Formats: sequence, structure tokens, C-alpha cells
Amino acid sequence: MPHDNIRPSARFNDEDSNTSPNPGFDSVLDARLSRRGLLRGSAALGGAAALGGCATMAGPAAPVSALGFAPVARTLADQVTVPAGYTARVIYALGDPLTAATPAFSNDGTDVDYGNRAGDHHDGIEWFGMDAAGQPSDSFASRGLLAMNHEATTDEKLSSFFIHANGGTASLPRPAAEIDKELMIHGISVVEVQTDGKAWATKPGSAFNRRITTMTPVAIHGPARGSEHLMTKYSPDGTQARGTLNNCGTGRTPWGTFISGEENWFGYFFRDAKDDDARKKDKQVQALNRYGRKAGAASRHGWESGGTADTYARWNNSAVGTSAKDDFRNEMNTFGYIVEIDPYDKSQALRKRTALGRLGHENATFARAVAGQPVVAYMGDDARGEYIYKFVSTAKWDPADARPANRLAAGDKYLDKGTLYVARFKADGSGEWLELSMNNPVIAGSSYFVFRNEADIAVFTRLAADAVGATKMDRPEWGGVNPKNGEVYITLTNNSARTPATTDAANPRAYVDMKGSKEQKGNVNGHIVRLAEKQPADAAFLWDIYLFAAQADADKTTVNLSNLSDGNDLSSPDGLVFSQATGVCWIQTDDGAYTDTTNCMLLAALPGQRGDGASRTLSYGDKKVTTHVGRPQTAATLKRFLVGPKGAEITGITETPDGRAIFVNIQHAGENTKMSDVNDPSKYESQWPSNAGYGAGKRPRSATIVITKNDGGVIGT
Ligand code: FEO
Ligand code: CA
Ligand code: CA
Ligand code: CA
Repeated sequence: MPHDNIRPSARFNDEDSNTSPNPGFDSVLDARLSRRGLLRGSAALGGAAALGGCATMAGPAAPVSALGFAPVARTLADQVTVPAGYTARVIYALGDPLTAATPAFSNDGTDVDYGNRAGDHHDGIEWFGMDAAGQPSDSFASRGLLAMNHEATTDEKLSSFFIHANGGTASLPRPAAEIDKELMIHGISVVEVQTDGKAWATKPGSAFNRRITTMTPVAIHGPARGSEHLMTKYSPDGTQARGTLNNCGTGRTPWGTFISGEENWFGYFFRDAKDDDARKKDKQVQALNRYGRKAGAASRHGWESGGTADTYARWNNSAVGTSAKDDFRNEMNTFGYIVEIDPYDKSQALRKRTALGRLGHENATFARAVAGQPVVAYMGDDARGEYIYKFVSTAKWDPADARPANRLAAGDKYLDKGTLYVARFKADGSGEWLELSMNNPVIAGSSYFVFRNEADIAVFTRLAADAVGATKMDRPEWGGVNPKNGEVYITLTNNSARTPATTDAANPRAYVDMKGSKEQKGNVNGHIVRLAEKQPADAAFLWDIYLFAAQADADKTTVNLSNLSDGNDLSSPDGLVFSQATGVCWIQTDDGAYTDTTNCMLLAALPGQRGDGASRTLSYGDKKVTTHVGRPQTAATLKRFLVGPKGAEITGITETPDGRAIFVNIQHAGENTKMSDVNDPSKYESQWPSNAGYGAGKRPRSATIVITKNDGGVIGT
């Protein structure tokens, strides 16, 4: 189905493979819910407000009560615009060297050796402080490591055209030399940064600098380790894999490691047109369809066409050998996980934490860790009609693990054993976390898909969530936990497939918006849902819609339900990160709907709490949908802080512990440039960051910027 207003990168997020009949499971579910004695009413959440403090995060909290800057106006300028009194500088862009021996980036398509350079499409980012001796520090604010995702690459017709001299090859087969470069610009990087008190800069020769790519060795952890579904020619026992892919959102564990979510990995795999028959229509076929890879699916870059070497053959997910140990029919099952690295120790392989499920993972955000309680993480599956998940560890938090001798061993302890849940939202403003395990009779007895063990649930998580009747959401993206009260915010970026007939209380809008002369339909601008739990491990929650994104001029009874105005209107919220220093909720956009008026942006919010607004009823003909909206926004509670360059999405954000510097990622400026114009800068959609004085060449580059206040103060105050 065509999606005219989907921007180039987002076409891979707009997967719509959830055809599950899950509403039909309601009767089974309701019986089970009543057995559990679901908590109802706000009284049940009375304890939530007491969850103050910030035991595991850096620096003492100094919450701000007012946003002390003038909002940035909407703009289509090809630059990063920040408020008066602030300075934004580029410090780390695609291709920048990560070793002292790597040549400077020429940015004309001739560069190689991307395994020693910054990757492309900077996304989620996290700060890991270091003291003068190079030891991890939660308080040091002038030296640290930035760990970040390199999600994807700006492409057209198979080719990542900005990294090839003439734009590369737009047809099959693709030359191995082009593929070799593309394989290395995806993944994760770690780069050391420091400030001399005047300016931040990376350290290209730092021994901590690291690249992780599609080729880096990986250890499979959790219930899927050794599963028959992960056996490949590379790892016949299903315990190892190679690389990480389409890394989107990030997180930071209570024990000080970096978490990365694998999001649109399925699009990189080719499947033969006869593959359903070759697999004798086993249950993998149902799963492959559910994860967006029908037989005959073409791959995003044609990497499988580079030759017979495993490097290329692994991207052909077809059953072509005599068994799974002779081919790469299961290669796709080695992606789709939360991966963990120790940012301070590059000698350690990355670990895929399969207990957290196989999804189109955005990020994972952790509840405040409490001594003697499980560790809890919240996660979104970003595709149309997918779900919100929560992981609850079996091990109980030991505060001594906040500074463990072996950080990845702490990860093994808390992330390899636990229970995964999926959210079901009810119309009355309550909700329940539905257990995804063999202990749940709905899963153990499922005829929709046969689950035989916990490994099946870890690998085919979406099918388990279908079976229990989870609520289909409007593309769940980042989650963030409010340090003030423990409430969980999850962005729902937009959903072109939402119709009036499928609206529900938690996804209540389906409307028409014009972009020029084009009609855009569905939940065009997205919203942010907010969950309150008495304890993070609880099976029950209460919810409301913290914010409905909209144009300021949209109808306030049907679309602009949060009272947005010129200084704070937005579309397609995606990144959402709470400042641990100030409590400010940072919201970033990845939009294609309002881009006739403004480039994507970063906003600062001072959120209240769940239930601080009122119920609203929307009418669709005879159908009425009552939803629960947070308090209306004002010019004081939500302000636009930054607008990015043309074609760019604003992705990750992180901060120093003192709150005096923030690092923001700018992804795919100029992505609407045509491949045929690759050597004609006058036709580029964007020339950022070269037009900001950064680096050689005029080809646009994804990059990290640092923002400081000119008076040296705390950002946002
Ligand atoms: Fe990579 Fe869902 O954004
Ligand atoms: Ca519009
Ligand atoms: Ca995102
Ligand atoms: Ca997005």
C-alpha cells in the first residue's frame, strides 16, 4: 500500500504485518484477568508518587520548575537552530576517524575503512563518565565516553549513495566492494570526548574508541541460546552470531552498561519466492510472515548478491541447504534483540539478551532500581499495530551491583532470566501486563502458534503477544521513566493505518490532515502515553495520554487535544529521554507529516502526572471513543528547544551529570536528495554539517552535536 508522506528512511518502520486476530481472544482474557483481581482506580496507585529519588543515576537531581529559554520558531532553514543564549557545535560525524592512524574523512565517496570511522545515521546515545584516571565515574562531567547507535544509511534503489564516489550500484548484483563499505557503517560506536572548559571534542586516538558493525562477533544469551531456531552455518549450536543491525534507541542499565535496540532488521534479508515450499510450510513460515518477510521479499541493499562468501550469503534467509546448519535460513532469527555492551571494555563481545524478546526494538528504559526488588525495563516494538512490552528480572536488585567488578556479568544476572509481559489497555484508564511465558495457559495451549518452550517465546515474541490479546498501538517508539515519580512515558509516533473503525481509548485519533494538496490519514501526528504503576513489577497499571501531537492550528476538539500553540506544536514524537539532572522531559521528532512547515525538532517539557487532565470523548459517526488526556499544555510546560537541518530526524540525546552539556544526534540530513544528484551539491536537500563549518565535502552527514549554555549554566534552566 502506498504511503505518500512516508519519508525515505521511515518506509522501513512502516511495516504492517500484524494481521493477528487478537481482539477475538478477549473472552479468554477477561476470564483470566478477573482471576488475577486487577487493581482499579487511582487509589490503587497511591504509592506511585512516593517513588522519588534516583539511586542509580549520576549526580544529585536538581529538578527545574521553569524552562528558562524562549522557544525556537518552526523553521525550514538548513541549520541547527537553538534558543538565544545557547551554542550548538558539531563534534562527531559520519566517517570521522576513531584511530590516530585513520586518514581524515574526505566525504567524496572515496573513503574506506569504516570499521575505524564513525558509522552512519547516528541514533540513540548515552553518556558514560570517566575520571582523570580513566575509571568509570557517575559524577565526572568533563571527560566521558559517548556510546551511540548507527541505525541505517541514506539510500535509494539499494545503494547507500552518499558513501560511494558515483552513488554506487542501484541494481543486482551489487559489487562486493560497495557492500563491504555498507556492512561497516551500521552498528554502534563508542568515542571518547572531553572538554577543556571551553570546547568539547572527540579524542580520535583514544584506546576506548570502538566500532561494532554487522560483522562483530556476538554471544547469544538468555532462553534462545542454543535454540534450534538460531542454528546457522556460522554457529551450528545456536550460541553465537555476527553483528547487530538497525540499532535504534538506547538505554543505560542500573549497573552502568549500554543497551541498544535492533529495530528494522528484517528488511535487510532476501527470501526466495519458493521458500515457503522449501521449508515445507513449517511454523517458521508463519513467523517469517509475521515479522515482515514474505517469500520473494527483496532486501534493502541486496547484500546477498555480493558473492558466495558467508559475508554475503548470510543475507539470503532462504532454506537452500540440506539443513539449518548448512545455510542461513535462521540468520534473521539472530536479529531483533536488545543487545548489551560494556562501553568501558572493548575486549568483551556484545551480548544479545533474548529474554527481552524479539521485536522491532526501539529502546529499553529502566525503572529506578530498588534494593530487594526485580529490575524492570520497558520497551516499544516500532511498527504499525505493534505492542508495548515490559521485562521483570528474576534476580532482585543488589545495590552493590551499581558498581560491579564485571559489568556484563551483572547483565547476565539481571537480563538473562526473567519474565516478559505485553500491555493491554482498557477503556476505563486501567491496563494489565499479560505474561508471555509457558506458565500462561493461553500461550502453552495456543493453537494460533505452537510454543513448546521459553526459547520459542523469546524468538517469536510477536506471536506470543498476539496470542494473549495485547493492544495494537500506533507505533511504540522510545520509553522514558520520570525520575520524579516513576511514571513511564512511551511515544507512539504515528499510524497511517489507524482508521475510525479501529480507534480505541489508548489510540483514539484517526483524522485527515493536509500536507499541501496531499491528504494524510490515520493518527497523522502521534501521541505519548503515560503509565503509572504502584510498583514497577506489578501486573496492573493506570494510564492516560500525556500529550497529543498536532499542528497548533488543528481543531481543538478532535485533533489538537493538548492545546498546543506556535511555540510547542510538534508531529511524530519519537525520542523521549528524561534528564536525570533536571527532570526535564526531552521529546524529539521523526516526522514526515508537518515537514511542509518545519524541520524535525527537540522540545523540552515539564510533565505533571497521570490523571492530571480529564476524559474526552471523540465521535466517529455512531462510534464514540472516550480517552483520558493529561492536563492541557501551556507555553510554560512545553517549549521547542531546537529545530534541525533539512531532511533530518532528531534522534538520541544524553547529558553530562551536571546538566551543563547535552549531546544530540542529527540523523539523515538531506535524505530526500536524489541518487542521480550525488555529485551536484547545488541539488542536495541539505549541505549540513559542512554549511555549519564542519569537515570536508558538501555531502550531508549524520552527526552528534554538543549544546552548551553561553553562560555555562544548566541546560533548559
Ligand atoms: Fe528507529 Fe522507531 O525509530
Ligand atoms: Ca498539515
Ligand atoms: Ca527512533
Ligand atoms: Ca521513528
